[in-house]
Amino acid sequence: MSEKQFEHIKIEQNKENNYAIISINRPEKLNALHTITLREIAEALENMALDKSIRCVVLRGTKEYTKKPAFSAGADLSVRGHPAIDPENLMDQCHAMYIRHKYYDIIESFPKPLIAAVDGYALGGGFELALVCDIIIASKRSIFGFPEIKRGIAPLNGGTQRLIRNLGKIRTKTMIYFGEHYSAEEMYNWGIISFLVDNGQFEDFVHQKASWIGNAATKSLFVIKKAIDYGSQAPLNLGLQFEHLGYAINSQSKDVIEGVTAFLHKREPKFTGE
Ligand code: COA
Repeated sequence: MSEKQFEHIKIEQNKENNYAIISINRPEKLNALHTITLREIAEALENMALDKSIRCVVLRGTKEYTKKPAFSAGADLSVRGHPAIDPENLMDQCHAMYIRHKYYDIIESFPKPLIAAVDGYALGGGFELALVCDIIIASKRSIFGFPEIKRGIAPLNGGTQRLIRNLGKIRTKTMIYFGEHYSAEEMYNWGIISFLVDNGQFEDFVHQKASWIGNAATKSLFVIKKAIDYGSQAPLNLGLQFEHLGYAINSQSKDVIEGVTAFLHKREPKFTGE
């Protein structure tokens, strides 16, 4: 990983367990997302995609919060688009939306497992950001929701589209129409959150899960991620083709030999990600 300096995010690496942490670092705004924030997350992930020493990434809000703990309180309401964008110009507005969608797409298509570690608010664009991750780990004090309607706007960074695929129409419309806050427990019961963790155990738990994935068979996880993400958008017979191709890719990996050999020799596998 190059030592590139970012303005809105902070990068750390746990080299022992092959994972990196991207922390949104705007505590004074509860980690609200400016276009720069999204661009930096996407750029960091594009670098990490090629870095073999990183096999899992945790995306989170800064641990050093100064006001309230937050993953992200959504779009930065204190700025309106890019300074070069004319708010009166429809084409400029469409382009601004295109750019934001592009960053969410880059984040979603990151080829390695991406964990959203949510401790605190995950609202609006922040919730949309968690939804493009593979796994959401949330502390019990976390709060989710789409408050956009209360600001006269709408969750259009994938909110209306990604949530409906997980929750169905009724719950999605209820959440978005009324803009209410939802507890982490409620989101867990609705199947949006993978792990619901006591506040005091959150940091250890995130480390434990990221370490497990960081030491797992990375190529298998790549194939699994792509087959699920793209296969679930396609008819079954097409989705099954992803499995055929994925099987071929995974069969070339050193880790498949290691995994099976370790089982037969009754020892723990040591995966390298190769
Ligand atoms: N954009 C910019 N700044 C934000 C922000 C956002 N989305 N969310 C919070 N902040 C800022 C506040 O302006 C405040 O700054 P200040 O201390 O300089 O006044 C600071 O973060 C703390 O927020 P505050 O509202 O005082 O905290 P709270 O605990 O009373 O409420 C929230 C927390 C998250 C419920 C509330 O800040 C909120 O509703 N934020 C907007 C969420 C939203 O609408 N997101 C969708 C945007 S599309």
